[in-house]
Amino acid sequence: MHCLLKPTISFFCGVFILNMVMSHSLVPLFFFMMLLVQTMSRGTGITWHDARATFYGDASGAETMQGACGYGDLFQQGYGLATTALSTALFNNGLTCGACFQIKCVNDPQWCIKRAKPIIVTATNYCPPNYTKTVDIWCNPPQKHFDLSYKMFTSIAYYKAGVIPVKYRRVPCVKRGGVRFELNGNPYFLLVLVYNVAGAGDVTHVSIRGSKTGWINMSHNWGQNWDVNMNLVGQGLSFRVTTSNGVSLGFHGVVPSNWKFGQTYKSTRNF
Ligand SMILES: *[C@@H]1O[C@H](CO)[C@@H](O)[C@H](O)[C@H]1NC(C)=O
Ligand SMILES: *[C@@H]1O[C@H](CO)[C@@H](O)[C@H](O)[C@H]1NC(C)=O
Repeated sequence: MHCLLKPTISFFCGVFILNMVMSHSLVPLFFFMMLLVQTMSRGTGITWHDARATFYGDASGAETMQGACGYGDLFQQGYGLATTALSTALFNNGLTCGACFQIKCVNDPQWCIKRAKPIIVTATNYCPPNYTKTVDIWCNPPQKHFDLSYKMFTSIAYYKAGVIPVKYRRVPCVKRGGVRFELNGNPYFLLVLVYNVAGAGDVTHVSIRGSKTGWINMSHNWGQNWDVNMNLVGQGLSFRVTTSNGVSLGFHGVVPSNWKFGQTYKSTRNF
């Protein structure tokens, strides 16, 4: 039932609807409409929006590591080179970090690679505005801009293009394995990086519970780092994570009581 989310098999969705109409039953149609509404409310599928794209770094992708979302080694963390930095208009102060976008090169016959498959990238960095510049100010508000990895840019356009017009839309993130939690900070300040998030991908709310506490709302710190001013050393930790589409998932006891700062704890669940 994920046909809406995968344009390549939309033909089958068409057949699916036709079958339902021909079956003279409104019940499946009703559920299909529910799915449609749900999908659209997630901001995924259907509508393409206009933006522009450039690239940063080289084929190695070294310059795309770390960055303003708080992720580290993108290969180790599962994002690889399928990543983008977002301009202010898309970044939402870091809350869009982790979201996935499908992007295609459009209206530039000279530089778009003909019949290139649209790319899917995860937002892992920020393309900051530069107000002292007067040219190439792609990342300044209110412009929607994707600063792609070299590999992703050159999958849809020739690198000599420099900058291309694109169309984009949000798509669900597909990740391997469960959501992961990297714990940093000190006994008075716990900073948790939440990553490898599937589904909507962008986390908008995190609560934490120690084995001796109730649920505590964490504060958005930077990128996808969430914090709490509390000493939870020696307690097992659970998390409740909510993504931008309003879906919440609990990660009960994902961190054992002997946890250490600097360590990553992997859950087996994902959105
Ligand atoms: C902003 O643009 C100016 C002018 O091109 C340049 O000198 C400066 O290095 C840029 N600043 C940053 C932070 O990239
Ligand atoms: C925690 O966050 C939830 C969801 O945003 C909110 O409904 C609740 O009031 C918050 N609780 C506290 C104690 O701030």
